Amino acid sequence: MKKKDLIFVALVVVVLAVFFAISGKEKTSTVPYDETHQRFFDIAKNEGKKAAEKFCGECHTEFSDEHPPPFRCLFCHKTKKP
Ligand code: HEC
Ligand code: HEC
Repeated sequence: MKKKDLIFVALVVVVLAVFFAISGKEKTSTVPYDETHQRFFDIAKNEGKKAAEKFCGECHTEFSDEHPPPFRCLFCHKTKKP
């Protein structure tokens, strides 16, 4: 292997390491896939996250002090089917 290739491989390793470090910290709860939330999974998929987020406020009005400003819910709380 040439030196250039080694540097490239090293770079890829570093990028991957950073990627895993960040994803490990990402522990914001996902939207639960239950009766209450199921329909939003399809809305988010078909009409976009913004369309689905309009409904969150119907029920979620109070947040803990640690909670970031509650806009764009699905930006942080991912809809991930189990
Ligand atoms: C019809 C009422 C209702 C709507 C609308 C609603 N939720 Fe919920 N949500 C609940 C209830 C009740 C709980 C707690 C029980 C549960 O986990 O299902 C909850 C729990 C959660 C949780 C916490 C899960 C956990 O791990 O503790 C998240 C995150 C969440 N909702 C996000 C959302 C988002 C994002 C939306 C909009 C797309 C939304 N909810 C819309 C009623 C609702
Ligand atoms: C900037 C990222 C961010 C946004 C935007 C956001 N949240 Fe959260 N949410 C968090 C974090 C981090 C926590 C965990 C800390 C806490 O419990 O306050 C959390 C916790 C929650 C919880 C409590 C469940 C649990 O696991 O503790 C609910 C319910 C919730 N969020 C709903 C919403 C809704 C509904 C919206 C939109 C109106 C929203 N969030 C927007 C980051 C976010």
